[in-house]
Amino acid sequence: MNILILGSGGREHAFAKKLAESKKLSKLFIAPGNAGTASIATNVAIDPTDFAAVKKTVLENNIEMVVVGPEAPLVAGVHDFFLADNDLKGIPVIGPKKDGAELEGSKEFSKKFMFKHGVPTAKYQAFTKETVTEGQAFLETLKPPFVLKADGLAAGKGVLIIDNLQEAKDELADMLTNEKFGAASSKVVIEEYLDGIELSVFVLTDGKDYKVLPSAKDYKRIGEGDTGLNTGGMGAISPVPFADDAFLAKVEEKVVKPTVDGLQKDGIDYRGFIFIGLMNIDGEPFVIEYNVRMGDPETEAVLPRITSDLLDLFEGVGNQTLASKSYEVDPRTATTVVVVAGGYPEAYDKGYVITGTENEQDSIVYHAGTTLKDGNIVTNGGRVLAVTSFGDDIPSALAKSYKTIDKIKFDKMNYRKDIGFDLM
Ligand code: AMP
Ligand code: GLY
Repeated sequence: MNILILGSGGREHAFAKKLAESKKLSKLFIAPGNAGTASIATNVAIDPTDFAAVKKTVLENNIEMVVVGPEAPLVAGVHDFFLADNDLKGIPVIGPKKDGAELEGSKEFSKKFMFKHGVPTAKYQAFTKETVTEGQAFLETLKPPFVLKADGLAAGKGVLIIDNLQEAKDELADMLTNEKFGAASSKVVIEEYLDGIELSVFVLTDGKDYKVLPSAKDYKRIGEGDTGLNTGGMGAISPVPFADDAFLAKVEEKVVKPTVDGLQKDGIDYRGFIFIGLMNIDGEPFVIEYNVRMGDPETEAVLPRITSDLLDLFEGVGNQTLASKSYEVDPRTATTVVVVAGGYPEAYDKGYVITGTENEQDSIVYHAGTTLKDGNIVTNGGRVLAVTSFGDDIPSALAKSYKTIDKIKFDKMNYRKDIGFDLM
């Protein structure tokens, strides 16, 4: 089978590596990919939201399945585009249609969905620029800290957590009347603050059945001790020690089942990943958010632990036979440390030569923001590499990742030295 992956990050490199292990794979293409994917797949230099270019790539290369990495093409309707096109409609797309992608594309939609289907989550109300005053009055009824969320996609930056009531009221007005986050904040969800420990659970569904994939915890802040600005993610650990069998059983009963059933009841034929951001509050799961794709860097810790054929599972998603597929997990711990460009998540430079990433035995070095230039691997983004290692416990796996990073060099490289600090 020929497969096309859409995306260019560490997540997509992890998909590529896993799919490349499958006996069912013939040729692998990735658009646009990076320097790492170039060694195991054919990189195609197109934008994944340029659907005409995606169609051309699919037809020229006899692609038989498309795996969508990031949310943007899903929210823009890549799956719907395939279904509406006579040449493409028989080709399975791993990732939901526009209706399902709304779970990530609109916070209000996802909150309404959770309340409708009894999925535990924080209480909320949504406001627009016509109802700023009502929103400010609602803030007065809540206890701090105040959680304000831009309704639409805001590249992970649309959530504000504010201690001071007046500041929260001012920010609400700024988001709604000045569109602080562009059109994404023309509507704002205000919700109750959930005080607990965060983790993520990943589900693969064919719209009828599902598999719960390994849990993971990511580290979003740039600074050690979870301080400083938010990033796309600086590291990940899988499994999460505090997510024991009893907790995960509750997640399945109270969150996963009502979510998959709810999609069916609402007539949403969802085939792809559901990334469930959870808060564990005294052993009870509450949903913070849904994403309609895998996490990055969580994928780089979760996928290497899946020992079954991922392509076989994806076939099950495409033809709705997931229930008949088996699925196994490596019980060891996987730790991922992300190596970033100096300055990230603020302004940073690109184009620095990277050395020391090849022939690594103890870790998997996934590429994220890298490209090939004049025969060198050079930096091409904020998050540059994601280094994953296995161990019997978190410290032994992390020690390998850090030892591998010691051999990697590029100007101004940066990484967190304390991934997993809160779990040990
Ligand atoms: P989101 O984009 O919805 O995942 O929000 C970004 C981050 O804000 C989450 O990963 C949480 O750490 C935090 N967060 C979001 N909603 C809440 C909430 N209701 N209570 C506490 N923290 C939250
Ligand atoms: N690491 C968080 C995300 O992928 O959204």
